[in-house]
Amino acid sequence: MLEGKNVLIGMTGGIAAYKTGELIRECVRRGADVKAIMTDHAREFMTPMTVQTLSRNPVFSDMFSLIKDYDIAHISLAEYADIVVIAPATANVIGKIASGIADDLLTTVIMATRAPVLICPAMNMHMYENPIVQENMARLAALGYHFVEPGYGELACKVTGPGRLAEVPEIMEAIETTMTEKDLAGERILVTAGPTREPFDPVRFISNHSSGKMGYALAAMARRRGAQVTLVSGPSALAQPVGIRFIAVSTAVEMWDAVMANLERTTVVIKAAAVADYRPAEVAPNKIKKKEGPLTIKLVRNPDIISEIGKRKGNRILVGFAMESENLVENAKGKLLAKKMDMIIANDLTQEGAGFQTDTNIIKILDRDGRVEELPIMDKGDVANRILDRIRDMRATRKR
Ligand code: CTP
Repeated sequence: MLEGKNVLIGMTGGIAAYKTGELIRECVRRGADVKAIMTDHAREFMTPMTVQTLSRNPVFSDMFSLIKDYDIAHISLAEYADIVVIAPATANVIGKIASGIADDLLTTVIMATRAPVLICPAMNMHMYENPIVQENMARLAALGYHFVEPGYGELACKVTGPGRLAEVPEIMEAIETTMTEKDLAGERILVTAGPTREPFDPVRFISNHSSGKMGYALAAMARRRGAQVTLVSGPSALAQPVGIRFIAVSTAVEMWDAVMANLERTTVVIKAAAVADYRPAEVAPNKIKKKEGPLTIKLVRNPDIISEIGKRKGNRILVGFAMESENLVENAKGKLLAKKMDMIIANDLTQEGAGFQTDTNIIKILDRDGRVEELPIMDKGDVANRILDRIRDMRATRKR
């Protein structure tokens, strides 16, 4: 997602500087061009050689040797940056920025840049809780500076509390969020994801291979784009996306209850979950012991969640999924109309790179006007954004 973006990392003098190496690597891995400024104190904790190697660019420190050493006479770092990320940010640098002090390269660039600035504080917990630091951060936040709150845990100084530099995935999410246009602001999106589990005794259940990846990607991308997101998820091994409301469910009936309880407040429903169509008619109170001969489990139909939403749709945008192994477009079109969806995302289970478990998907987007948009194989994050683009456009058309 950071393809073609310039990320300027500012490192100040904190023990957490070692984590910044990983942060730089991740930015590079996601396609960004990364340059780093190290303050004198930062150089006490990490060598410029390490930072230079990881960022694949010269490291900047000295305000006055800049032009001579690096031949960037016309490209000031302040203009280069699409985002400035200060990690770790000490109480000192936060205080300097808040007071308008620009006495070294980093603070000067921050003063001069028009790019968003993301501050990732890391310090001793008592310093972090100091009212001066808190006031400085509140002042900067009010001025539009972005923050990633420090984590809670054991600090280098042995006390336990807030002050640890946030973990790299959290900082990366904040970078992506800061740089994403908020074109879904005002939408309250409910996403369902993952499989459901239908138990027939206390230790066994019927389920499917859904990993939740598509639904989680939709939730994460929608949140980056400014929507308020609720994710109703069946059992999944994935980490909860940050910044969303998360409701864990197990069975289709529990998913139904969670969706219906939240329907009133939503403007968009995306049903990416692989809901089991049937559940065992009875759940044995004790573990079923094996006996001679076959065991028969009677199944009954689960309620169809999306059909019910279709009936109560109002002005909501309703998006469903269809996984098919034959007659993809025809079957998906049938579901779109029968369940009163506005859009259906169809994928062909037989295609390599599509469907459950994979990090990619190959989809067709069908709408009620009979349009069929065919997308090539893509990362599930990109697929999610293409689906969200269509939701945004649909909303714009309705408003007109
Ligand atoms: N769905 C649902 N509740 C169910 C079953 C499915 O809300 N009890 C939703 C899914 O989340 C998906 C859409 O319906 O968005 C289509 O699901 P799918 O299982 O492919 O379709 P079915 O109508 O169940 O058809 P079939 O199983 O016969 O293919």
